[in-house]
Amino acid sequence: MTLRLGINIDHVATLRNARGGSWPDPALAAKAARDGGADGITIHLREDRRHIRDADLAAIRAATTLPINLEMAATAEMQAIALEFLPHAACIVPEKRFEVTTEGGLDVAGKEGALRPLVRALSAAGIRVSMFIDPDPRQVAASAAIGAQAVELHTGRYCDAAGSERAAELDRLLRAAKAVAATGMECHAGHGLSYDTVGAVAAIAEIIELNIGHFLIGAALFDGLVPVVAKMKALMAAARA
Ligand code: PXP
Repeated sequence: MTLRLGINIDHVATLRNARGGSWPDPALAAKAARDGGADGITIHLREDRRHIRDADLAAIRAATTLPINLEMAATAEMQAIALEFLPHAACIVPEKRFEVTTEGGLDVAGKEGALRPLVRALSAAGIRVSMFIDPDPRQVAASAAIGAQAVELHTGRYCDAAGSERAAELDRLLRAAKAVAATGMECHAGHGLSYDTVGAVAAIAEIIELNIGHFLIGAALFDGLVPVVAKMKALMAAARA
């Protein structure tokens, strides 16, 4: 199976919002990501609107034909926005107002009752729903039980670890990916991936989509977004081969 790359362009909006104006424009980033060979655009409309804003949704859709993956908290407000915007996919993420980024996976196993109706409503609208979870067999099983079509495995701990700890985290990802595939759900992965860490994750055959943002937007400052997306795709393809 081929491995798709979704580019998370939230941090283009972070930079724009630092001045409160319209530059740099996340919609232009969506175009550049496609020119670099991206397979999808990922955006996270956070409750506090710290980067992507409501108006960005339509602007990004108008700027690209790529499928849009909307990362969202499991709230009534976000459910209503998703049902109106109708993204190709929605990834349900835990959201804490004071965290800098999404620090851990969603506790699907502890919230099955609350998440099941959300998954049902989004799926009924034709949106592919994934759960952003730690590579934990309990969370995989719970995601399948509530009817998610995909899970995204949180790769942050793998990326942050070193030495034998990193090997252990990679093994957790590998085992979780196999468990996801066995349920019939799609297996995605992301968070913290860079040129150095992407290869081992891309080599896991069960994983069919990676979502990468912060590293690429940072690298784009030096090399440009089109070439850095193309380089990431090339590293993924090489690891897969
Ligand atoms: N996937 C999910 C669900 C995320 O929340 C994020 C961060 O917004 C990413 C992928 C991308 O992580 P990073 O920006 O560290 O590449």
